[in-house]
Amino acid sequence: MKVISTVKELQKEIIKVQLSPVGFVPTMGALHNGHLSLVNSASAVCPLVVVSIYVNPTQFNDRNDLRNYPRTLDADLKLLEKIMRNSDIVFTPDDKEIYPEKDTRIFNFGNLDHVMEAKHRPGHFNGVGQVVSRLFDIVKPDIAVFGQKDFQQLAVIKELVRQSDYKIKIIGNPIIREDDGLAMSSRNRLLEPGIRENASAIYRTISSASAMIAGYDIPEIKSYVMESINRIPGFDVEYYDIVDDTELVPVSLKSEMQKGKRYFGCIAVKAGNIRLIDNVEIGLV
Ligand code: PAJ
Repeated sequence: MKVISTVKELQKEIIKVQLSPVGFVPTMGALHNGHLSLVNSASAVCPLVVVSIYVNPTQFNDRNDLRNYPRTLDADLKLLEKIMRNSDIVFTPDDKEIYPEKDTRIFNFGNLDHVMEAKHRPGHFNGVGQVVSRLFDIVKPDIAVFGQKDFQQLAVIKELVRQSDYKIKIIGNPIIREDDGLAMSSRNRLLEPGIRENASAIYRTISSASAMIAGYDIPEIKSYVMESINRIPGFDVEYYDIVDDTELVPVSLKSEMQKGKRYFGCIAVKAGNIRLIDNVEIGLV
């Protein structure tokens, strides 16, 4: 694989190799098996894969989160080396390459930018829109692969593609988990040991919540999730919402759930100082 850090060189290389379709996997590094699964999916359908590693400042609404975000480029490159082919490219730009000028664009993602993550991280999805559109314009991929772990981000990206008329196929990949069920995340390595030990309760609880739909209504399911997780020392649920997978409208009663739509229970938890998100599908019964 080749490691390239400038836009000019990247575009020259993509033109030179003349391989298509071009697959793209944007990341912020601190790579784990979740990221690698996206790269493998892209490789399965694209003879050329570009992986970007760039910690995008415009999507961080919390300065400490940006400052503490793990940066492990050497280890990341070692992991990618094992699965990427000779012609594949790792793109490692700096801020100047991505934002030669300040990006002042304001996106309108409608309801997607008003619920769940958007409520708790104001401006976050605008920053994601800025960096992903900039990366799409640079790489010009045919296919881009994202994880369903960032459920709302995936919906935002699909909306970005629709609004900007990008001719890019967006693939959503399943969540890769640790052995105890915790969704893999770059932030997991920042968890204190005591907190990490209990963090598997998040997936366990929202999985049980999904199964509860057979016998309980949504207020009871939500109370169960909030109480089970808030009871753990150091854990604080920011939200647990049950939403459809396209408009992400939270439902408050089972009777509002429509046949033919897919619903997911989505959670954000403050685990010690670290914010974790996860989601599980809820089958209609
Ligand atoms: P990052 O958090 O590094 O995630 C990069 C991609 O990996 C995203 O599509 C995310 O959903 C996916 N991912 C993370 N953990 C996963 C897991 N456990 N299983 C499957 N996929 C997983 O998301 C971002 O970076 C940024 O917002 C980005 C899109 C790169 C824009 O800056």
